Amino acid sequence: MFTLPPLPWAENALEPVISANTISFHYGKHHKTYVDNLNNLVKGTEYESAPLEKIINETAGKADKAGIFNNAAQVWNHTFYWNSMRSGGGGKPSGKIASMIDAAFGSYDNFKKELSTACVTQFGSGWGWLVQDGSALKVVKTANAEVPFTKGQKPLLTIDVWEHAYYLDQQNKRAAYVDAVIDKLLNWDFANKNLG
Ligand SMILES: [Fe+2]
Repeated sequence: MFTLPPLPWAENALEPVISANTISFHYGKHHKTYVDNLNNLVKGTEYESAPLEKIINETAGKADKAGIFNNAAQVWNHTFYWNSMRSGGGGKPSGKIASMIDAAFGSYDNFKKELSTACVTQFGSGWGWLVQDGSALKVVKTANAEVPFTKGQKPLLTIDVWEHAYYLDQQNKRAAYVDAVIDKLLNWDFANKNLG
């Protein structure tokens, strides 16, 4: 049985950018539903007690396993997203990732612009990511439940750009949500920890 992992902070910790109300629905309803759906879909199959990452890698791109892939990846993506944010985060990074950002993008400001643009131009539902691809850092976007590690890219941080992530707080203003997450919430300690 897969379980809903606890949030790394209190539901109101990301206010005023992300309200407790949004977290309550996003975590308590959306994330939980992906966990419940996954448990129902893998019951009695070879995936029942497999690690989440293995399920995601083995079902990616397989039309007959789309239901399992979508729910497993959304469970993983949301847990990664919660950890990608913290109260008092955002802004310029520190640690090893700071020099890697400068090397890959030229400056923090260039990185910020690239991540924001990726998030805002993802058509429909999806995710914006900072990933490590070999030794290089890249910004990528994925649609729906897709996750970069199935293509060999190591996720470092993510921003959920499904409407359920911001509609209660910012309504249709995805750019306002994305920029506020980048400026005030990104957890650079988590990104540093994820570097391989
Ligand atoms: Fe979400």
